[in-house]
Amino acid sequence: MIKPEAVAAGNMGKILNMIIDNGYKVIALKYTRLSRQEAGSFYAVHKERPFYGELVDYMASGPIVAAILEKDNAVLGFRDLIGATDPAQAAEGTIRKRFAESKAKNAVHGSDSDENAAIEGAFFFSGREQF
Ligand code: RTP
Ligand code: MG
Repeated sequence: MIKPEAVAAGNMGKILNMIIDNGYKVIALKYTRLSRQEAGSFYAVHKERPFYGELVDYMASGPIVAAILEKDNAVLGFRDLIGATDPAQAAEGTIRKRFAESKAKNAVHGSDSDENAAIEGAFFFSGREQF
């Protein structure tokens, strides 16, 4: 997912280019906006964390780009491409190093397992939207 502040800053094209240039095949793509309720259930795993309320408000604050991406070893590889959660810790050449504003507003989301990637893909896309 390309998060709201990165979309608002006009960076969705540049971020998609970095993803495609790094060999990811786009299986599904959508420009949409999460309601607070949807953002809350998407990040339900963080419900008990102190930043949960701020995270939900932020993720519902404007349109996002959702995508399903395919590549060998995609989950781990994509985490390398996006970089550490906090852009101050992110390696040179990563998406978050280049585009994230802060640890909270960090430009992109990546799934953390194949299992969650399947759940998150189904959250955004029907079967006929996946190619
Ligand atoms: P993501 O799930 O969005 O790909 O990010 P991540 O795995 O790198 O980080 P995670 O621990 O899953 O946290 C989810 C998102 O919550 C926000 N966050 N804010 N203010 C804070 O200390 C804080 N910590 C995390 C970020 O937007 C983070 O990506
Ligand atoms: Mg995460």
